[in-house]
Amino acid sequence: MSERPKAPRGTFDVLPEQAALRAQVEAVARGTLEAAGYRRIETPAFEQTDVFQRAVGESTDIVQKEMYTFEDGGGRSLTLRPEITAPIVRAYLEHGMHKLPQPVKLWYLSSCFRYERAQAGRYRQFWQIGAEALGSDDPAVDAESILLLHTILGDLGVAGVRLRLASLGSHESRARYRELLTAHLRAHEDRLSDEVRERIDLNPLRAFDSDHPATREVMASAPLLIEHLGAEDLDHFAAVREMLDAAQVPYEVDGTLVRGLDYYTRTVFEFTSDALGAQSGVGGGGRYDGLAEQFGGAPTPGMGWAAGIERILLAAEHLAAREPVCDLYVALADGTAAARIAGFALAAHARRAGVATQLELGGRSLKGQFKQADRCGAAFVAILGSEGIELKDMQSGEQQALESASAVISYVLRGRHADA
Ligand code: HAM
Repeated sequence: MSERPKAPRGTFDVLPEQAALRAQVEAVARGTLEAAGYRRIETPAFEQTDVFQRAVGESTDIVQKEMYTFEDGGGRSLTLRPEITAPIVRAYLEHGMHKLPQPVKLWYLSSCFRYERAQAGRYRQFWQIGAEALGSDDPAVDAESILLLHTILGDLGVAGVRLRLASLGSHESRARYRELLTAHLRAHEDRLSDEVRERIDLNPLRAFDSDHPATREVMASAPLLIEHLGAEDLDHFAAVREMLDAAQVPYEVDGTLVRGLDYYTRTVFEFTSDALGAQSGVGGGGRYDGLAEQFGGAPTPGMGWAAGIERILLAAEHLAAREPVCDLYVALADGTAAARIAGFALAAHARRAGVATQLELGGRSLKGQFKQADRCGAAFVAILGSEGIELKDMQSGEQQALESASAVISYVLRGRHADA
């Protein structure tokens, strides 16, 4: 016997109840972002592999282990997007968006793909909501961007949210600091985990993410990048903090915050939720002032974040799905062809008039049809039979004969307005 196929490991079907919850997350995010002048963008699900190798960084876990890379029929190397910031910078340059008033503010809601160890809150296909502002290095962009995600998470009721904030400085201060950190790691090499030791030269900052006990001890006395920033970076960071303070956004400065992507400069941040287990990161982001140049574009500062929809849903405990509206259920008193056609025509006219209408499609008895109308939350049920049309108000229980389809529609529309 052949086995029935299942969704691939680390992926899931978004069933209707979950789709309704996701629609709410989307509505809240869209409302907040569009009110702040962000406009939606969609990029392709796959890009040239090079886009992520250059932007996210060759030494990162994402590029080294997690990308779904394939060759297409024409021999090109393509990769399913593991994140969406790099594609957006690619699109900004490709479409000459530098000619638009700056900063260009874009938001997105799309799926991403990473070959990660699947567990609660960590999937191989997941959805990100994100916002990117390109073309301004004003610290107000950073503070506003962070405030927008803070507002969205608050409005969705995401529980136990904490915000960690740091600055990674410019590429130059990072390069100077890297030498200090590498020297510290070399001095304690024998106590480090194999993985951290092997990556001392490639990516020393990731040592802060290690959960290996001896490595953690070594890292407790490691120099912090935040203590080695240049004067301009310090001013920028102070200005971001001052604005967050003014907007009453609570945060903790955490010099050990490292993000898993290489393109960051200056501000980085992460929102976590105590309501989540090991995968506590709800959303994060930061500035990426050098990314456009890495793609051969003119220097273009950028700042943004992405938040995982699945993690938001896990942590937004009280989010409840809104039931779909049903104004009218068209029931059939008997199964005659004439009644079926009249019912179909009534439903078609009613929908054209803007009445949310459901048609009996399950061949149920009249009693069964009323049960089904109830399940749909129908406000009215029209019963079509050889005697004509009866309309039942499901709330009051009143039933009356009406002479035509248009009389039914007017009645339902009047009833709906009276309710609203
Ligand atoms: P990231 O931290 O890699 O950043 O991902 C952002 C969010 O996506 C995470 O906080 C998490 O909620 C969600 N996420 C990541 N991986 C998974 C997974 N395997 N399963 C479920 N959810 C996941 C970025 O992607 C950057 N592009 C953010 C950014 C935008 N930086 C600047 N602009």
